[in-house]
Amino acid sequence: MCGIVGYIGNKEASPILLDALRKLEYRGYDSAGIAVITEDKKLNVRKIKGRLSNLELLVQQNPVVGTCGIGHTRWATHGEPSDLNSHPHTDVSQTIAVVHNGIIENHAQLRTWLERHQVSFASQTDSEVIAHLIDFHYNGDLLLAVRETVKRLDGSYAIAVACSEHPDLLVVARKDSPLVIGRSEDATLLASDVPPLLSHTRQVQYLEDLEVATLTCDEVHIYTLDGDEVKREIQTIEWDMEAAEKCGFEHFMLKEICEQPKALRDTLRSRLKDGNVSFPTQVETLLKGASHLLITGCGTAYHAGMVASYVIEQVAGVPVEVTVASELRYRVHIRKEGEVCILISQSGETADTIAALRMLKERGIPTIAITNVVGCTISREADWVLYTQAGPEIAVASTKAFSTQLLSLFAIATLLAKQENTALLDALMNLPNMAQLLIDRQEDIQRFAASQFNKTKVFFMGRLVDFAISLESALKLKEISYTHSEAFAAGELKHGPIALVDTSTLVVAICTQPSLYAKMDSNIKEVKARGATALVITFETVHNFDECADVIFRIPQTHPLFSPILSVMVSQLYAYYCSVLKGNDPDKPRNLAKSVTVE
Ligand code: G6P
Repeated sequence: MCGIVGYIGNKEASPILLDALRKLEYRGYDSAGIAVITEDKKLNVRKIKGRLSNLELLVQQNPVVGTCGIGHTRWATHGEPSDLNSHPHTDVSQTIAVVHNGIIENHAQLRTWLERHQVSFASQTDSEVIAHLIDFHYNGDLLLAVRETVKRLDGSYAIAVACSEHPDLLVVARKDSPLVIGRSEDATLLASDVPPLLSHTRQVQYLEDLEVATLTCDEVHIYTLDGDEVKREIQTIEWDMEAAEKCGFEHFMLKEICEQPKALRDTLRSRLKDGNVSFPTQVETLLKGASHLLITGCGTAYHAGMVASYVIEQVAGVPVEVTVASELRYRVHIRKEGEVCILISQSGETADTIAALRMLKERGIPTIAITNVVGCTISREADWVLYTQAGPEIAVASTKAFSTQLLSLFAIATLLAKQENTALLDALMNLPNMAQLLIDRQEDIQRFAASQFNKTKVFFMGRLVDFAISLESALKLKEISYTHSEAFAAGELKHGPIALVDTSTLVVAICTQPSLYAKMDSNIKEVKARGATALVITFETVHNFDECADVIFRIPQTHPLFSPILSVMVSQLYAYYCSVLKGNDPDKPRNLAKSVTVE
């Protein structure tokens, strides 16, 4: 998704803006640009389609000198990726420049209205209307013009505005898209996320929805849309740049996969007290009193919820419904007595999950968020928040965020368990060590990937939690290796998927549920009989599949309900190595974005 940055200080703005944009690359983008106000009060814009290196070259060939500027990485929604559609967008007189992350839903009406006022447009984007509207409302007071403009916008936005008449001022505003302000001794910065700020400061302020702020070199003032000043505390980011850098790994994704034992240990520590699982008292009361749980999220986060639905129903006997947030927000939701909703989101900024949260809150349903980003929108709006301690996740494909979401959900299951509580607790405590044992054997998976990465069809199958992990495994593989991969409940094999199985198919069977080993064995034999290659993922102590599998990957023994944390790591590593072997960039897969902040 688009990323915005801004700098106002004593140093040259353009290298700082370019460096900041690099740190937002992981969000996914197809073009980039900057606008800098020069010493003679001129607005200079450089923008271009393609990678950031194109923009760097452009700035090198045609430098801009000035200490105040804004920047943008664009992920096309309205209008193809092109130089003209790239941000920043300016008004007709080239006085005002705007960068925008989000979608302006009433852009067509605003465009028609502006055209009627003799404004001519340079791009096909929804964002350009913002620059022209600010110009329309501008009479020397940039803050007022931005306030009046955003009142007319429907949809989502995080915007940063520069004006050539104010070389010492930036104005920002947000609704439903993230925006963080960084405060250092000699500069003020802004960005869509924390990493671009970290080489300058760890002191940040989060702008909230329907707020605007003025940024100068040494002051930040935050206001409501009606102009009332708002006090906002300065927060300190606890993690440092090293956590957001590759530290010798070839890719962020591999680093993040390998960090899982630590991420699990840190998350577990935050959920343990006196040798038992622990939650804030009100969260514990809420969970224990719930007679129905609703879990929602998108993508990988949804798969975490799906795993949890099996586990919680089995150990706690509480009905659990799990729905993707993009469906939940629009479908008829029949409220159940004693219903509590758990929302899962790594970034805490996913548009559909935020919309589902707001819908549930309107209906008075208590909400608990599981998220990885302190201060994110979902953490601020949910009734309660449980943070995963995964540290920054930069690679687009989620790995350590997923396993820490699972760990948090397993802690909830352990809290609610009617029986087996001690066995579950022991298993939970041991998961970080088990994860390390698995990561230490990653070369086995690398070797298997080297023999299979060219397969054009890969199916994942399993039953119960293994089905949920099959879905996550297929998602991971398609996201970064671009291999056509599907997942299905193994019992559904005969209801369709088997028609596609032939000698070119790799079938990965995830088999960690002892009561279903015999059923899985039959399914594996059925695909083998049609010429498929079968990889089985099972526990190290299990030998039921020695005969039927072509290859077996054995994961360390744990409680079968908690196996997803380990089995998914096999799929993550397999997807990673296939991606690298195919020459892809696993950190920045085509067409995908880390944080989907628009619908
Ligand atoms: C995007 C990312 C996925 C992520 C999903 C939900 O699709 O590429 O990795 O699972 O969004 O994101 P969230 O931040 O809400 O967990």
